[in-house]
Amino acid sequence: MRKQPIFLGLETSCDETAVAVVQGTEILAHRIYSQDHRQTGGVVPQNAARQHLEILAQLTQSTLQDARLAPSDLDGIGVTAGPGLVAGLMVGVLFAKGLSHGACKPLWAIHHLEAHGLIGRLYDPGLCFPFLLLLMSGGHCLLAHVHKVGHYTVLGQTYDDAAGECLDKVARAMGGEYPGGPYIQRHSQGGDPRSIDLPVPLQREKSCNFSFSGLKTACVQWIDSHRDQLPARRADFCASLQRVMADSLCARLAHGLAQTGLKRCVMAGGVAANTYFRARLGQTCEQAECTMTIPPPAMCTDNGAMIAWAAHERWAAGIAPNSFFDVRPSWPLQDLSSAGVFGCD
Ligand code: KG4
Ligand code: ZN
Repeated sequence: MRKQPIFLGLETSCDETAVAVVQGTEILAHRIYSQDHRQTGGVVPQNAARQHLEILAQLTQSTLQDARLAPSDLDGIGVTAGPGLVAGLMVGVLFAKGLSHGACKPLWAIHHLEAHGLIGRLYDPGLCFPFLLLLMSGGHCLLAHVHKVGHYTVLGQTYDDAAGECLDKVARAMGGEYPGGPYIQRHSQGGDPRSIDLPVPLQREKSCNFSFSGLKTACVQWIDSHRDQLPARRADFCASLQRVMADSLCARLAHGLAQTGLKRCVMAGGVAANTYFRARLGQTCEQAECTMTIPPPAMCTDNGAMIAWAAHERWAAGIAPNSFFDVRPSWPLQDLSSAGVFGCD
């Protein structure tokens, strides 16, 4: 059998420095360094970039060592070029350009959200195009019709906060740590999801759009007015929050499936790591007789394997590599050019 090409993936768009080596659908090695921004209560972009700079070269070397490979063994490199924090993106892109040039390896500029959306195909080789993508991360929440690599129709996105942002801010208001999603999930255990009355976002709107800032405000108000009861009702509150968020997400997903008639669906992004959301959205797909692919939880949150795999996908689709690109801190998914060539924002 022909040897599958080997791709290195580099991710520095937010607060995780992540590197991976992928060969075909096999992840040969992957490493993630998660930055600690607890002291500042959130990600300070320049601090994040400095930490990426300090660790990226060493992390890349260790990941290649784990895979028992040298840069000369690679067939290509993928690096996140956007969307994300400008300084962190620049650290990753400049390092990748240096490595690509030095090792004479082709380079692909990777769209972070496309990488989240495509990693499901590494785990489910039967997942062919087109499919519906429900992407829920810390900064984005959207439903897209994925036609093929590089071709997306965004059906709806959030009017305000992303799902992960809502979880992060509510957890913070409760005194919980960042990121808030895992905190809320952990504390929801044993809670009654119908015990606290919270508003279901966009309950009356039939669309593929999302909104979480009203729910976030309602949650913060509830926390402020129940401070003394919070320790005893934390589980009920977290379970109720997850329940109303899932009600809204399921309604949006059902609408997207009905509107497009698609019978395959992918759930992606950090929030897709949530066990309760995975189960609820899975039921919605089952009711619509649609298959659901969800990467394992560790591959829903930011990682290097999704970037390496996106480079593999671009190579397999015949999209030419290109070293002449700049970072794009804001980069709409629908702007993805199949040639992969773009300028500065
Ligand atoms: O995709 P991601 O790792 O980074 C971005 O591209 O934003 O997503 C991070 C988001 C955070 O808001 C975090 O709270 C959320 O994903 N998240 C979760 C879980 N794990 C991470 N939300 C709910 N349940 C989880 N288990
Ligand atoms: Zn992400």
